[in-house]
Amino acid sequence: MSHSHDSSAPSTLRSTPSGRPLKGEVKVPGDKSISHRSLMFGALALGTTKVHGMLEGEDVLSTAGAMHQLGADITRDDDGVWHVTGRGLGALQEPEDVLDMGNSGTSARLLMGILGSHPITSVMTGDASLRKRPMGRVANPLAEMGVTVHCRSGQRLPLMVQGTDKPLPVRYKLPVASAQVKSCILLAGLNTPGETTVIETEHTRDHTEKMLTHFGAEVRVKDTDEGREITVVGQPELKAADVIVPADPSSAAFPTVAALINPGSELRLPAIGMNPHRNGLYITLKEMGADITLENERIEAGEPVADLIVRGSNLKGIDVPAERAPSMIDEYPILAIAAAFASGKTVMQGVGELRVKESDRLAAVAAGLKANGVEIEEGDDFLIVHGVGDNNKPAGGGVVETHLDHRIAMSFLVMGTAAETPVTVKDAAAINTSFPGFATLMNNLGTEIV
Ligand code: S3P
Repeated sequence: MSHSHDSSAPSTLRSTPSGRPLKGEVKVPGDKSISHRSLMFGALALGTTKVHGMLEGEDVLSTAGAMHQLGADITRDDDGVWHVTGRGLGALQEPEDVLDMGNSGTSARLLMGILGSHPITSVMTGDASLRKRPMGRVANPLAEMGVTVHCRSGQRLPLMVQGTDKPLPVRYKLPVASAQVKSCILLAGLNTPGETTVIETEHTRDHTEKMLTHFGAEVRVKDTDEGREITVVGQPELKAADVIVPADPSSAAFPTVAALINPGSELRLPAIGMNPHRNGLYITLKEMGADITLENERIEAGEPVADLIVRGSNLKGIDVPAERAPSMIDEYPILAIAAAFASGKTVMQGVGELRVKESDRLAAVAAGLKANGVEIEEGDDFLIVHGVGDNNKPAGGGVVETHLDHRIAMSFLVMGTAAETPVTVKDAAAINTSFPGFATLMNNLGTEIV
């Protein structure tokens, strides 16, 4: 396996308002969720899967490293296309060493499902952020399927997965709206005889369902009174498939909001993924008065994509409905920045899940906004941002702790592009998990992030 990534980001970055509008075309890196799944499913399929436009961020490289340890052959060619040669479902080899998932919850939780229905024993760990995150939400349904998972106290990493050769199919209703939990169970169900069903009462991103079908599995989706039922028929023959990865709407969110809050800006962001379970931020920003136009809406390799045109806008605060949370779950930190520049207050409800992301994002956003002169109200599962709006700007001048969270780092660097005074972000290296080259890309558009 070979990989390249930008590990040169200094750990402290300072974003200074340049007073210039942002202009240009933005090449946003590949979708993180789809990149992880391409590597995992390619490693389970027979033959060679080619992945075009894969995100080469640290999180995805953690997945690549793990799938390599489990026996897949993974290479990158000179054109940047990744080739994944799988061993076939059920044929993963026992890893010789601990699987290090770095900062990536998606890698850890989805892989636990795959490992659970392979008769091998593996040990998994991660960085200080991932070692704090709850794994009971996947260990519990896996236990129902006959998988033994021994976790550290509080059901945290490091943990050991003792996979079973006699997994049991389950019918499992998700207690939290989580695509990672849904995917973990469906992936365990892949190598399980019979049919495994997950029921979700709130719709979460559906990349696993769509991509498993693309790799030859039978997946049925049905809406019932109980919620959406997703059933995977066990033990299919997975076949290699080519994947074209759209640009990540969660990464596109950062230059988008930077353009909105810098008057006179105009950015073009080509081929951004617009899956309806991922586009909640764009709907919300438009409700706030954002000038965002979608051009060339099309389907590419099964995923809706569009070119986005974003222009500097006067934003107004709104109430973000709780039911929209799953479709914009990773975007609340950057939404909070947009809200700080808006006139009036923005109310975000039903966002308790943010407390168990790469950091406690409600606490991190609240602390960062306060440090930069923005008034907020924080509750267990809500955040209210009092926008300064009406031609005022947030004061800035604060120092922000990121707690190893890439989205906290990028959000506050975006804030600094248009605040009264610079914003400093400590330990910004986590940006490399999802958006290598972020500062350079932004500076090419007109910002000053150094
Ligand atoms: C992801 C699901 C979401 C999201 C994460 C990626 C995925 O997590 O926050 O960044 O690829 O399935 P949850 O399932 O925990 O909400």
